Amino acid sequence: MPANEKPVNITSYLQEERVFPPPKDFSKRSHIKSLAHYRKLYNDSIRSPEAFWGRQAKNELVWFKPWKKVLQWKEPFAKWFVGGKLNVAYNCLDRHLNTPTANKAALIWEGEPATPGKPGEERTITYKQLHREVCQFANVLKRNGLKRGDRALIYLPMVPEAAVAMLACARIGAVHSVVFGGFSAQSVADRIHDSQARLVITADGGFRRGAVVPLKKNVDEALTLNDERGNLLAKTIEKVIVLRRACNEVHIEAGRDVWWHRELDRVDAHCPAEKMDSEAPLFILYTSGSTGKPKGILHTTGGYLVHVKLSTRYVFDLQETDLFWCTADIGWVTGHSYVVYGPLANGATSLMYEGAPNFPEPDRFWRIVEKYGVTILYTAPTAIRAFMKWGVEWPKKHDLSSLRLLGTVGEPINPEAWIWYHETIGGKRCPIVDTWWQTETGGIMITPLPGATPTKPGTATLPFFGVLPEVVDDKGNPVPRGSGGKLVIRKPWPSMLRGLWGDRKRYQEAYWSEVKGSYFTGDGCRQDKDGYFWIVGRIDDVLNVAGHRIGTAEVESALVSNHKVAEAAVVGRPDELKGQALVAFVTLKGGVKADQSVRDELRNHVAKEIGPVAKPDDIRFAEALPKTRSGKIMRRLLKQIAAGTEIKGDTTTLEDFNVLARLSSSEE
Ligand code: PRX
Repeated sequence: MPANEKPVNITSYLQEERVFPPPKDFSKRSHIKSLAHYRKLYNDSIRSPEAFWGRQAKNELVWFKPWKKVLQWKEPFAKWFVGGKLNVAYNCLDRHLNTPTANKAALIWEGEPATPGKPGEERTITYKQLHREVCQFANVLKRNGLKRGDRALIYLPMVPEAAVAMLACARIGAVHSVVFGGFSAQSVADRIHDSQARLVITADGGFRRGAVVPLKKNVDEALTLNDERGNLLAKTIEKVIVLRRACNEVHIEAGRDVWWHRELDRVDAHCPAEKMDSEAPLFILYTSGSTGKPKGILHTTGGYLVHVKLSTRYVFDLQETDLFWCTADIGWVTGHSYVVYGPLANGATSLMYEGAPNFPEPDRFWRIVEKYGVTILYTAPTAIRAFMKWGVEWPKKHDLSSLRLLGTVGEPINPEAWIWYHETIGGKRCPIVDTWWQTETGGIMITPLPGATPTKPGTATLPFFGVLPEVVDDKGNPVPRGSGGKLVIRKPWPSMLRGLWGDRKRYQEAYWSEVKGSYFTGDGCRQDKDGYFWIVGRIDDVLNVAGHRIGTAEVESALVSNHKVAEAAVVGRPDELKGQALVAFVTLKGGVKADQSVRDELRNHVAKEIGPVAKPDDIRFAEALPKTRSGKIMRRLLKQIAAGTEIKGDTTTLEDFNVLARLSSSEE
């Protein structure tokens, strides 16, 4: 390890005692100025949720038609603002047009430098300009046959057109499903098949660390893939709209593929926003679950927008002069809610950056903060740990004094990283909001309010308005403060998922059967004496790798789809940078020799099946996997082996002790 790299400890936060009260001058100028004020509003929101949310929805959003009922709840199905009509794009754009916000920057975009040493491209798009671009592109979508209720798959790099595409879908009432640009052709095909999308919006390529990611080529491949019965997965696709970005060579299939810029010449900029039902689907976003294929999380219109608008304002204490930078990719829920919909609904300026944090050099983020005068930075603990490792000299090269608030999301933040973020990036003056939420929750659920809540490194602290979390035991009873348990949410909230696309049963089973009458988050948690929630990670078979949820079952099924693999089990081990790393235990078919080339082949195979994010960090070969008498793989043991810890616990039910010994003693 080079001298400037500090070891990062990720496990010691349970003993954390330090408390950081909100800075006085920050509180004075913030929307919620004290803990007492927060508690009063929170208690009101829990005592009479319908009155609270009804008031918020009326004040925050423009409705074409008012709702008849705030909430209709038939567990586990919620409807919010029943009978109300509105449009998300209208609320993010049109409503600002006759206000001083019209000519304010909606998006500031920094592109990745195509060549090291050269500055990245930049674009500033005002609300008026964005409105025009969205209307034009909405007309392009219509011209290409996309209608209200149809699904469109978006597979784009982090360019402003990604936001344009999302908003254009929302404008015409189509449902978008964004697929992260790091996912493979197979993932694209699976998502098209599940959502039955009619149209794909993609780019020739995107830039990543100077290389070109061949997005269009992946789409071409996705459109040829079959399921195991030989049926074409993406047969619903009629059109592919291609943005020119990387200028790499691509194939254009006549009759199917059209260029974004050519289509623009054929439309005008007049496109009225569709009047959508409050419960009309807005987007589907696929995420990993503990079993099988990814789940299509469904979010709808009115409730989602109220929650993300309100949470953006209060959690980030948004002020008129802020420049808000959420570093998440548009392919994840954080990008949906806090790059696009939340900031734009508030008339804020949202910064988008196309590339990697260390390209061309590890100071890229700090260069951007200084260049534009970013005031609020929202990023992930895994990125913060990487910055720590790269050394303080990189942030120290830049003037970060414009920053006034910092945020984190995606996984528990270890106190060392929290303190580093606070001191090195925040100059000890910026509060940190550690925000807990999920793809399913749509918006932030547990979080400090920066002017009100004293923070402690490692905890997301207290619930947001209208959110009633509890830590319970296996029977669903609340556990005493200080004890660990399952984190559940007791009451419906406006931005909750409405279901899994096309699978009512799985929705019920995955979220509403574990603890009766409550939404089960899949996370373990404890509450301290002050009622603060400390998330301790997932308790199902989902790993959090560099802030991304990856289902172990998904990686296992990718591995066994390779003809050399007989059986595979995937577990997590603690990792300094990523939080967790993926370790695969693989039994090869008879006659296949275990060696480095098979290991490489399998890692690439997983990248092809799912995407590079899911590549196992280690692959360990075994003659057989340790199993109980009933044939269950003993994951607890595999985790211990993967972590390199001593094997503990009862192993008497193991079928073959030799297997264990072999696994723990050698790599091959
Ligand atoms: O385990 C929790 C962790 O990330 C999971 C949700 O992942 P995903 O749906 O991909 O959404 C990530 C961005 C919202 C949660 O179940 N998680 C998220 N935020 C935190 C967290 N764990 C601890 N602290 C957080 N602030």
